[in-house]
Amino acid sequence: MISPMWFLHNVAAISLGIFFIASSSAEQAPYSSFAKDAKLAPPVMYFDYIVIGGGTSGCALAATLSQGGAKILLLERGGLPYGNPNITNIGGFPETLADTSPTSASQLFLSMDGVFNHRARVLGGGSAINAGFYTRASSDYVASSGWNPRLVNESYEWVEKKVVFQSPMLTWQSAVRDGLLDAGVSPNNGFTYEHLPGTKVGGTMFDQNGYRHTAADLLEYADPTKISVYLHATVYQILIRTVPAGQKPKAFGVYFRDSNGNRHMAYLNNGPVNEIILSSGALGSPQLLMLSGIGPANQLRAQGIKVILDQPNVGQGMSDNPMNAVFIPSPRPVEMSLIQVVGITQVGSFIEAASGFFELVWARRMAQEVSKFENQTGHPFTTPFNENKQEAMPGPDPYRYANIQAGVILEKIAGPFSTGYLELQSRDPNDNPRVTFNYFKDPRDLQRCVQGMEIVRRVVESRHLFTFRYPFATMQTLMNMMLTYPINLRPKHVTATYSMEQFCVDTVMTIWHYHGGCQVGRVVDQNYRVLGVDSLRVIDGSTFYNSPGTNPQATVMMLGRYMGQRILQDRTPF
Ligand SMILES: Cc1cc2nc3c(=O)[nH]c(=O)nc-3n(C[C@H](O)[C@H](O)[C@H](O)COP(=O)(O)OP(=O)(O)OC[C@H]3O[C@@H](n4cnc5c(N)ncnc54)[C@H](O)[C@@H]3O)c2cc1C
Ligand SMILES: *[C@@H]1O[C@H](CO)[C@@H](O)[C@H](O)[C@H]1NC(C)=O
Ligand SMILES: *[C@@H]1O[C@H](CO)[C@@H](O)[C@H](O)[C@H]1NC(C)=O
Ligand SMILES: *[C@@H]1O[C@H](CO)[C@@H](O)[C@H](O)[C@H]1NC(C)=O
Repeated sequence: MISPMWFLHNVAAISLGIFFIASSSAEQAPYSSFAKDAKLAPPVMYFDYIVIGGGTSGCALAATLSQGGAKILLLERGGLPYGNPNITNIGGFPETLADTSPTSASQLFLSMDGVFNHRARVLGGGSAINAGFYTRASSDYVASSGWNPRLVNESYEWVEKKVVFQSPMLTWQSAVRDGLLDAGVSPNNGFTYEHLPGTKVGGTMFDQNGYRHTAADLLEYADPTKISVYLHATVYQILIRTVPAGQKPKAFGVYFRDSNGNRHMAYLNNGPVNEIILSSGALGSPQLLMLSGIGPANQLRAQGIKVILDQPNVGQGMSDNPMNAVFIPSPRPVEMSLIQVVGITQVGSFIEAASGFFELVWARRMAQEVSKFENQTGHPFTTPFNENKQEAMPGPDPYRYANIQAGVILEKIAGPFSTGYLELQSRDPNDNPRVTFNYFKDPRDLQRCVQGMEIVRRVVESRHLFTFRYPFATMQTLMNMMLTYPINLRPKHVTATYSMEQFCVDTVMTIWHYHGGCQVGRVVDQNYRVLGVDSLRVIDGSTFYNSPGTNPQATVMMLGRYMGQRILQDRTPF
């Protein structure tokens, strides 16, 4: 059995638990005139566009649509990302992920694969709880998506102007960059947003002060006279008019509840181009389509949902890029960093790094493990509990008292090839759907992991990491340590001579780049319109076949902007 304590602490630990203190600031949304709690919403409202989900794509999309003169409603189930240091400060990254309360900006889910995972529940979506790394998709990805490259570039630039910064690149990230170059992941492409083979430094949504900027900041672009944003507004159903056989059903409104459980209705104004746009993310969008009667008929009937359109592809093609990592306890101080540098290898995997103080129960056990290095080298591996830290962490929680400075090198598989599916567990949109990702089901993914981990080995063993590594911390020792800790709920097959394949399968984690469920060509068309239904689109990460770039958020925001522009062009053709 899993104790709640175990759960809480280890979920943080698997999430690259990093500790860092930064000052908190109570802050309001810069656009408080139009962002309100849903309790203040009238029971019935009318708009030209209704965007469901104020996430990474939804904020970019709603801000753009409002600039075209139409009336926009944006509904988000979470609250504002401002004023909460867990969200705004870089050091709060593991705190949000460890916070399993119903008001947390992250909602924990456990996939059927036995891997802990998280989904956003806050304005700004994933961009408000993620590691902040920003990097564009390759030109091949743009071409194969059928997007207009010029509008794509303009849309990326629109995002970058507001929320993206150059990564600072201090000691640990620089050592990993140099290690990657030594390991043959070349050339050195320096700082660039572009997706180029070799080693590069990307952008970050954390500014020079470690303050997080999010997709919610893109709402500063919005026309405040045209947009309404309601927070803590959970959409239960898209209302779809059924029609005589041979005609298309048509979306005409949504039904949502505020945090008191009161019902509100939002309807589309009459007009040929008005529509509802689902931007609820890779879990939320397929889930809400099914809750609204669009999905596999047998599954809907099993939940007592009236079938409007039997669409077996809804919830199919779910993928999560497998992530494997080693933690490297460091005898010398390392800065707090999330992701800044990436190796884009020739073997279909991406190599990234993080660093800081790792704590919580997992790190404590790891500290015990590495104490033998300390005995052999004379280096202290823990640092004293400093005053700032004591202030921030009152109370006699013994788990809090282990902290260790360390780096992490991780490997993410491009694609991936393996796919799974999502199923409803209930009719409640607050419940997680049941998700199966089938990590490594396709042998090509496993091969990419093995080859990627071999490059990680070369980076770990490179001279640039020499001073960051205890002499006895060989790659084998570091891998053994990963197998010792409960980073997931999968069986471990530890033998004296386990293979890299087995290491990949047993220690797989998520890098939270899951996607699919409403894919282009299967659930939506090239213009992101839901196949077989009028006035309804899906625009977010659920439409992807592969994760774009090395990390997706740049392209998710870009897509919101891009499609917002395209929809406005349809509205006023010229
Ligand atoms: C911990 C973590 C770290 C990551 N690190 C990085 C990184 O460093 N770089 C990178 O590029 N990517 C990173 N990612 C991935 C990236 O953040 C996501 O791919 C991206 O945010 C997905 O955007 P989206 O618009 O598809 O969905 P989301 O941003 O999740 O937006 C969906 C929104 O819909 C809302 N919603 C859902 N259901 C409902 C409903 N019924 N009613 C009302 N609202 C609803 C949700 O609350 C949410 O705000 C990370 C993700 C996580 C979770
Ligand atoms: C921050 O996270 C911690 C632990 O994960 C949680 O206990 C705390 O309530 C969170 N703070 C806020 C302001 O949400
Ligand atoms: C888009 O931007 C990239 C990177 O700056 C550039 O290489 C490419 O040529 C641009 N494409 C267009 C169509 O402008
Ligand atoms: C390290 O040395 C100390 C002091 O000699 C000893 O108490 C401790 O048990 C040793 N730790 C390990 C893991 O060997």
